[in-house]
Amino acid sequence: MYRLAHFSDPHLPSPPGSMTPAYALTKRLLSWSSWRRKRSKQHKREVLDAITADVAAYHPDHLVITGDLINFSADKEFAAARTWLESLGDARDVTVTPGNHDALAGRGAFDPWAEWLEDKTTDCFPKVRIRDEVAIVCVNTGVPTAPLLATGTCGQAQLERLGPMLDELGARGLFRIIAIHHPPTPGGSPRKALTDQAALRAVLEKHGAELILHGHTHVPLLGAVRGPKGSIPAVCAPSASQKPAGKNPAARWHGVEVERAGDGWTVRVVVRGFAPEGGPIRALGQYRLDV
Ligand SMILES: [Fe+2]
Ligand SMILES: [Fe+2]
Repeated sequence: MYRLAHFSDPHLPSPPGSMTPAYALTKRLLSWSSWRRKRSKQHKREVLDAITADVAAYHPDHLVITGDLINFSADKEFAAARTWLESLGDARDVTVTPGNHDALAGRGAFDPWAEWLEDKTTDCFPKVRIRDEVAIVCVNTGVPTAPLLATGTCGQAQLERLGPMLDELGARGLFRIIAIHHPPTPGGSPRKALTDQAALRAVLEKHGAELILHGHTHVPLLGAVRGPKGSIPAVCAPSASQKPAGKNPAARWHGVEVERAGDGWTVRVVVRGFAPEGGPIRALGQYRLDV
């Protein structure tokens, strides 16, 4: 059995001095202002620290974090997030895929997190990490967007690379996990959606994957998209730093336990986190996915 821990959207507190005059005429000013007014009151470092301590006690084989580590892509935020990532363990055991809040400095500006993106640095996404019988395929949807938009885009070049990559990993009999920030499923606000989600779904329907892990919505969701032989489950983890009794569901994380079963796989998802009213972190439920 291979055991992953998945959490998302930690929105780490922005260090003092993150906002600089250079960002004043960019969308980053709006994101900074939004962080100060709203998000800093909802996302708490002590909540995130409790979640990561609970994850550590689970002793996962690997940790997947699906984006929005920071808030307005400031240099100081990238550096602080790097220090936080170092605290989670060996970078080879922790994989990050970026979110829209990590991408305001431009596509491909994730160099400070290079060791957590892939094993050998390449200059493009998707990136893949193979561990045991599991292939973690990171699709980047983080692109700079206009003010008031939180959309994401895979882009044609990335989607063209994704299909053959999935074919090759599938031919090797690996359990293919798509780690992506924005939901690939329809629905939700167009202002926050994945703009080329239909094209991504077409790639997945043709080439296949066994599981999708995503974030961005800050609410727990279980959806599915079509694969070549059946549906591909899409599991959304809410924010790992959202305080209980706040605007969105309280912080939680998922243990994802993957085991080969005959011709297919069995996946058990263990949900742990804070109850809506607070209190200590506890088991919130579990379910099985037959893949
Ligand atoms: Fe987020
Ligand atoms: Fe997001």
